[in-house]
Amino acid sequence: MCGIVAYIGSNPAVPLLLEGLKRMEYRGYDSAGVAVLNGELQVVKTVGRVSVLEDRLQEKPPEGSVGIGHTRWATHGDTTERNAHPHTDDRNGIAIIHNGTIENYASLKTALQERGHKFDSETDTEVIAMLISEFYDGDLEKAVQAALREVRGAYAIAVLCENEPDTLVVARKGSPLIIGVGASEFVVASDPTAIVAHTTQAFELDDYQVCKLTREGFRTSTLDDVSVTPKIQQLELDLEQIELGSYDTFMMKEIFEQPRSLSTTMRGRLDKRDGKVVLGGIGPYARELVRARQFLMTGQGTAYHAALIGEYLLEDLAKIPAKTEYASEFRYRNPIIVDGTVIVAVSQSGETADTLAALREASDRGALSIGVVNVVGSSIARETDAGVYLRVGPEIGVASTKAFTGQVLTLMMLSLFMARRKFMSVDTCQHLIEELDQVPSYIERILESDDQIRTVTEKYVNQENWLFLGRGYNYPVALEGALKLKEISYIHAEGMPAAEMKHGPIALITDGMPVVFIANQGPQYDKVMLNIEQVKSRGGRIIAVATEGDTEIRKHADDVFFVPPISDPLSPLLTVIPLQLLACHAAMLRGHDVDKPRNLAKSVTVE
Ligand code: F6R
Repeated sequence: MCGIVAYIGSNPAVPLLLEGLKRMEYRGYDSAGVAVLNGELQVVKTVGRVSVLEDRLQEKPPEGSVGIGHTRWATHGDTTERNAHPHTDDRNGIAIIHNGTIENYASLKTALQERGHKFDSETDTEVIAMLISEFYDGDLEKAVQAALREVRGAYAIAVLCENEPDTLVVARKGSPLIIGVGASEFVVASDPTAIVAHTTQAFELDDYQVCKLTREGFRTSTLDDVSVTPKIQQLELDLEQIELGSYDTFMMKEIFEQPRSLSTTMRGRLDKRDGKVVLGGIGPYARELVRARQFLMTGQGTAYHAALIGEYLLEDLAKIPAKTEYASEFRYRNPIIVDGTVIVAVSQSGETADTLAALREASDRGALSIGVVNVVGSSIARETDAGVYLRVGPEIGVASTKAFTGQVLTLMMLSLFMARRKFMSVDTCQHLIEELDQVPSYIERILESDDQIRTVTEKYVNQENWLFLGRGYNYPVALEGALKLKEISYIHAEGMPAAEMKHGPIALITDGMPVVFIANQGPQYDKVMLNIEQVKSRGGRIIAVATEGDTEIRKHADDVFFVPPISDPLSPLLTVIPLQLLACHAAMLRGHDVDKPRNLAKSVTVE
């Protein structure tokens, strides 16, 4: 989705803006632009990658140490230079960049046109520029406050004005915006990755707040101009976490990070001696959770797959009725929320529009809300009653990997937290905690087979149709394996319960079609073997994810990726790893940019 970066200080703005835009490239975008103030406003916009903008800027670099930069992911209007940000007004030399969507932009635009404003783009953002201009009478901060009082929707904005060459005004409602505080300089961004190279001291604006920044300091106020004092904090992020290091892609880096990220997810939360799980974020709600009558799990994409595993875990281990639904469906179908319902919103970014809306819908109907979120301070994290952070660090790769395993592990811990307060014995919990402790080293072991996984991928990479099949806990893993493959390699892949294949999809199986089975030695192993035979006898090529020591599987599968033995409820944490590697290799072998898949955005903040 769109990215914002803005700067005021004494250094040249353009290099800093470009660096920030590059760091946010992972979020997905289709055009980019900057505006710099130096006596007059200089605006440069291009369609395509930030490198295209960089080349254009090199022709005649705008000088100045106050500027704003933006990467746009089209929502209102096509991908064109005219629609790219920054947008300007037609009267006062105002330039604006904006993340979010303005709901009442059409009526505002009509009124502004009636008052003589000429629009150049199809965007909702240009409407805010014109509106600020209407209110401008020599004080940009006041004009921004007044304009935003008229606007409905979500925004994070940064605004410049030719008449105020030493001022930058920013504001937010419902879209993230962080202000990095340096020595006589400020770097503002929608994502901390664009700030951390310059300063680690930062504060966030709350909804409906405006901040006026000059080189001398800042003033934060409400839309009604009441001053507020923000709390400056240390950013929990270091450069190493957001740089590639020795890896070619962030996706590969993050796949290999999982032993470490999962250790961090568990750190201090598993008490082996007493056989219990300590989750500070939900501790105060423990009694309410234990008395809950049902859990509703929700999310989108990969987070939905993790939520599905959470449903199985809660029912299996904690014996609590649970069901999972796409947030986008839940929010519009007039759901029944009985007393004692808990909604669990699963999200890496914490900003996914549908998940946020589903959460609000359930909360309004009386559900207790729990967030299983990675990004600290994100909208979902702020709006839930309680929650458990994933703690897997920033996920830059567009295809979610370490966040998925972090979500599954967190839901596992949530289930154990509940289970021990209901029916689970200390012994059983202790045993599962011991196994969880082993997960990082087990993943290390799987990662050692990366070369083998690449070689196997090479054999099948030119096939255009794949199936991914699994049962029980590994049915969601099949869904996730298929999603990973299609989103970055553009190969058509379907995931489904292994038994469902017989009810139609089996017709697709032709000679040589790759079919990936998750065939670990769990309670449904024999059934999966039957399904393997059904595919094999129709010419499908079998790639199996199986348990180390399984000698039988070699007789049935063409290729096998082994994972260490583990209890079935924990198996998704291991079985998904070879599928992540397979997808990543397939995309690289087909020559695709793994970290910038076409049409995709890292966090989907639109419907
Ligand atoms: C796939 C992927 C997406 C996200 C989905 C939800 O690799 O990353 O399917 O899982 O857009 O995003 P979050 O978790 O940020 O709510």
